Amino acid sequence: MNQLEFQRRRERLMAIIGPESVAVIFGADEVLRNADTHFRFRQNSDFFYLTGFTEPNAILVLTPGREEGEVTLFLNPRDPAIEQWVGRRLGPEQASDRLGVDVAIDINEVDKKLPILFANRHSLHTLWTAQSRFDERVHKWLHQLKKQRKSAPEQIMNLSLSLHELRLKKSMLEQHTMRRAAEITAQAHIRAMKSCKPGLYEWELDAEIQSEFLAHGAHAPAYPSIVAGGENACIMHYVDNSAQLTDGALVLIDAGCEFEHYAADVTRTFPVSGMFSREQRALYEVVLAAQKAAIAVARPGNCFKDPHEASQRKLVEGLIDLGIIKEDLDTVIEKHLDRKFLVHGCSHWLGLDVHDVGAASHKGKSRVLEDGMVLTIEPGAYIPSNDTTKEVDVKWHGIGIRIEDDVLITADGNEVLTSGAPKHPDEIESLMHG
Ligand code: GLY
Ligand code: MN
Ligand code: MN
Repeated sequence: MNQLEFQRRRERLMAIIGPESVAVIFGADEVLRNADTHFRFRQNSDFFYLTGFTEPNAILVLTPGREEGEVTLFLNPRDPAIEQWVGRRLGPEQASDRLGVDVAIDINEVDKKLPILFANRHSLHTLWTAQSRFDERVHKWLHQLKKQRKSAPEQIMNLSLSLHELRLKKSMLEQHTMRRAAEITAQAHIRAMKSCKPGLYEWELDAEIQSEFLAHGAHAPAYPSIVAGGENACIMHYVDNSAQLTDGALVLIDAGCEFEHYAADVTRTFPVSGMFSREQRALYEVVLAAQKAAIAVARPGNCFKDPHEASQRKLVEGLIDLGIIKEDLDTVIEKHLDRKFLVHGCSHWLGLDVHDVGAASHKGKSRVLEDGMVLTIEPGAYIPSNDTTKEVDVKWHGIGIRIEDDVLITADGNEVLTSGAPKHPDEIESLMHG
């Protein structure tokens, strides 16, 4: 992604917050795993969105209209002794050239130089974290200014509303990157289908998936991959991936790569042996019909909830037809009897994060879909063999099926970014039989 793209994003955000405001956006910190070993660093998505900068320990400050520069980046300084251990750093000297920021300052000077940027600004915009409303550094700097009797912003506002609104609609470059993440992910699912056979362990399919991601420059999964054989598919966040795959069972794989910071999120469910049983295929076709119905209504002008409602209706009708649910459609919907089998919604936004930011509703109303938004369509039906399903014929027990694709809303409908991964049962069977 080029410098101009990030510059455009900052400009758009500054136009929204206005010249009375200052915005402070913190990059992610390194997280210690143990001793002197850290978890693999992943930049904070909001910070990345505005900078493209992938080093830890950085802070971006936006001061719209400021003559000395509107965009200030605090970052780690160059240090050959440290860089020999932790890798190359960009350093303030090169930051302007490489990132297009106006001013770049050594992060060690942040307490002295950052609060100066608050001067004569009425509002301070920053992102509220889940743990505390603001980063405690913001409080410290404001307190510092007060003690020095200097002007400080009077109100602190949550930047997420405006910033996440921008992130919700993907630019051409973002769409291009997400298309690539989707293609790599589709190839990985194909590879898992082709290499699957009874007796393998779930982690062996996980290895095929990961290997395909890495082979195409996607450094990591966008979320922990789920490889769930048989009844494990009925556990939504099954990430053990430790069981043996048995002949006659299905395996559900929910895995997506992160490519250049953008996520794909795909689920395919297929028979370990390469051939669906009668019951597996019957339930699979219900989920597939539900997914198709949902994709058909994922279009501009419709709402975020429309795919969910379309798929839910199809799923319930299908479960009634198969005799898994024994009430009529209206009763099921009214009494939420489907919740036993349909445990999650059909969609979430997708982008830099797998469960991406952006409001799915506004003032109680479902969000209208627009060109450039990307969402998943992922209906599923799960019939675990436990007390809650004892009235269901045992032939259905232990079946869990989800089919998930990534869908870009376009001006005249949608584009299924992950259509490269087969999902029709005949297609899957023929692929698995070579
Ligand atoms: N892989 C997480 C999800 O499907 O939402
Ligand atoms: Mn998903
Ligand atoms: Mn998923």
